[in-house]
Amino acid sequence: MDVRRIFPALDRQIYGKPLIYFDNAATAQRPQAVLDLQQRLCVEACGNVHRAVHKLGADATDYYEAGREAARSYLHAPARENIVITSGTTASINLAATCFCQRFVRKGDRILISEAEHHSNIVPWQLACERHGATLEVLPVDELGEIAVESLDQRLRKAEGRIKLVAITHISNVLGVVNPVEEVIAVAHKYDVPVLLDGAQGIVHEQVDVQALDCDFYAFSGHKVYAPTGVGILYGKKRWLEAMPPYMGGGEMIESVSFEKTTYAPLPLKFEAGTPNFVAAACLAPALETARLLAEDPALQENQRTMRDYLLEELPRIEGLRIYGLPRDPARKIPLISFAVEGAFPSDLAQILDKMGIAVRTGHMCAEPLLHRYGQTSLLRASLAPYNTLAECESFVTALHRAVQMLR
Ligand SMILES: Cc1ncc(COP(=O)(O)O)c(C=O)c1O
Repeated sequence: MDVRRIFPALDRQIYGKPLIYFDNAATAQRPQAVLDLQQRLCVEACGNVHRAVHKLGADATDYYEAGREAARSYLHAPARENIVITSGTTASINLAATCFCQRFVRKGDRILISEAEHHSNIVPWQLACERHGATLEVLPVDELGEIAVESLDQRLRKAEGRIKLVAITHISNVLGVVNPVEEVIAVAHKYDVPVLLDGAQGIVHEQVDVQALDCDFYAFSGHKVYAPTGVGILYGKKRWLEAMPPYMGGGEMIESVSFEKTTYAPLPLKFEAGTPNFVAAACLAPALETARLLAEDPALQENQRTMRDYLLEELPRIEGLRIYGLPRDPARKIPLISFAVEGAFPSDLAQILDKMGIAVRTGHMCAEPLLHRYGQTSLLRASLAPYNTLAECESFVTALHRAVQMLR
């Protein structure tokens, strides 16, 4: 497959240099099929969803629901009712944290997360814990970036039913390590504790089957998997979604409203108040179809492993460079590499690289507690997509050598 042809943004020149886009874990580029649908819907189906009888509104609704169906199918979820459309992972986790805790968490209860979480899977739980007098507990990560899953069983047993939910990232956006989520879910379920997976990175690099995984919630963002920004998904088991109260109140989440009493729409609309970003939601269909094609192409998958292995071998040749996130099983490492170089600030390196046409991420990467765990306040991250090439990796390594020399 000529994958680069599908993503027109990759042809750009940045400061007169060919773009090398290595910030895919932040936002991925969009394929032509998504760009086409986005434009077409703005012209042909610009009507509000789920409320109008006219053609434009009906078409907008059909496309919106097709986006939901694409997400359902991609996650292998049993039904449309399991798929709540949100504005992104952050919104999905806030919804889950707020509504789950309102219904199931009381004073003295606990929520368990890991040390490797994105702020989006920390702060919503902190806020909910504060509201209900609960506490947040943290499962540590080790030097290699692996969570201490062996201590989970004991922790849950000792908690004697006080831990009400485990919220953990499928793949850390800093460490690039695939967590043993199957194990986490199996252990948590032994104690009847539900598990939410933050799938912002997992959806891109793993084949997710929520029924096989048996997770209770799975959250992801469209823009990391080739869709536009402003759309995300919260998968939830019906058992939980039905029991949880609505999140926001407003249009479309109701069945009937009177000043005395309001009743709510059935799932999933109960959680979808107000006009959604239906163009972005509709684009989940071509975006996830693209993701499926890329995942099923053995040459592209092999290329990703080759690029990962090349960077893992070449980067440590730079004196004083340390990579964070090197799991015992190398197959659990995705092509996402965060590192620090002694004597060179990550932001300075990133700025020099930008002038060379290379886009990388720098900073705390929305995971301050994790960086502090490793004594860092900022790292540099190269995160690759199937459309990147080994030649780009070679240019990146050469450019990084030069940038480091310039700063030392
Ligand atoms: C692991 C993880 N969780 C949550 C998020 C938040 O995603 P969004 O900003 O799209 O809501 C990100 C984004 O970088 C992420 O990588």
